Amino acid sequence: MSEPLILGIESSCDETGVGIVRGNDLLANEVASSMEQHVRFGGVVPEVASRAHLEAIVPVLEKATATAGVDLSELDGVAVTAGPGLAGALVVGLSAAKALASWLNKPLYGVNHLAGHVAVDLLEHGDLPMPCGALLVSGGHTSLLRVNGIATDIIEIGSTIDDAAGEAYDKVARVLGLPYPGGPVIDKAAAQGDPKAIRFPRGLTARHDMAKHRFDYSFSGLKTAVSRWVETQQRDGIEFRVEDVAASFQEAVADVLTAKAVDMCQEYGLKHFLIGGGVAANSRLRTLLAQRMEAAGVELRRPRPGLCTDNGAMIAALGVQVVKAGLPPSAMDISADSGLPIEKVLV
Ligand code: KG4
Ligand code: ZN
Repeated sequence: MSEPLILGIESSCDETGVGIVRGNDLLANEVASSMEQHVRFGGVVPEVASRAHLEAIVPVLEKATATAGVDLSELDGVAVTAGPGLAGALVVGLSAAKALASWLNKPLYGVNHLAGHVAVDLLEHGDLPMPCGALLVSGGHTSLLRVNGIATDIIEIGSTIDDAAGEAYDKVARVLGLPYPGGPVIDKAAAQGDPKAIRFPRGLTARHDMAKHRFDYSFSGLKTAVSRWVETQQRDGIEFRVEDVAASFQEAVADVLTAKAVDMCQEYGLKHFLIGGGVAANSRLRTLLAQRMEAAGVELRRPRPGLCTDNGAMIAALGVQVVKAGLPPSAMDISADSGLPIEKVLV
């Protein structure tokens, strides 16, 4: 039997993505971003994102179909992000997917965005050995997962108790007078800075926190520590290099993210690990994780940065796994679930 051919639609935040995937082969991955429209607000404005999805969805769909060179009638199904994400943004992708599936008379699969960040790695590195650990780091989520089956069995071992890692990047960028989104600009500034210049706190690593939150993260204290440090320098008229603050902040994030990831692999005997989500594009996180996983004897899979940020191919890749697992299609009346938990891969 030939591998499933799936079209995936993503619209949970500010990227309108359509990807077409056959098995683990990526045939097309078109993304339109409304990021520039949000920059002056310093964060994604839901209403603006929804309108942008509405404008972009059909052109992006047409482009992806042309790039893949497939006839839509050949599809085995249409996968779409059902959650988590911004409700008004999700419904645009869901409506498009329902219209397409119903017009083509193909099955519809409403899937979990977070599981998509895991599945996308298959497009680059092939089938995933199970069980596998995963670190999902994005603008809205920071979780350590144990994956026993991408479509069927994902368990959250730990997560952030306050801000997501990407959110911390975006907030610290604002404190440093850098533009939104903070991740890529801090990453760039940090390359010119000294990561040892300032010792910022590593959240939930003290002994009393480890008892209850061994695999959980916290970034709000770090964000506050950076703000206070910057305010003190400014109040006292002490000059400082933004690059050093960026590098020291980034070091604190990468240190705690990777230390807990390695700890989880050791605790659960996991020999394979992957990273996903927008922050997985971070250069320091990628390097430090590679070093520490190698030292721990764990094989690390890192999708290329372009696949880490939101896109439609990740949803199509997950759709393929859902079809291969023999799961039933979603009902045509499914709605968006902005708080969809990671354990629920298919709606
Ligand atoms: O997964 P994603 O594209 O969207 C969500 O589902 O949230 O992640 C977006 C987040 C933003 O917070 C952005 O600042 C962060 O990923 N990000 C980065 C980098 N590139 C994007 N954070 C750190 N370093 C980067 N190079
Ligand atoms: Zn995402």
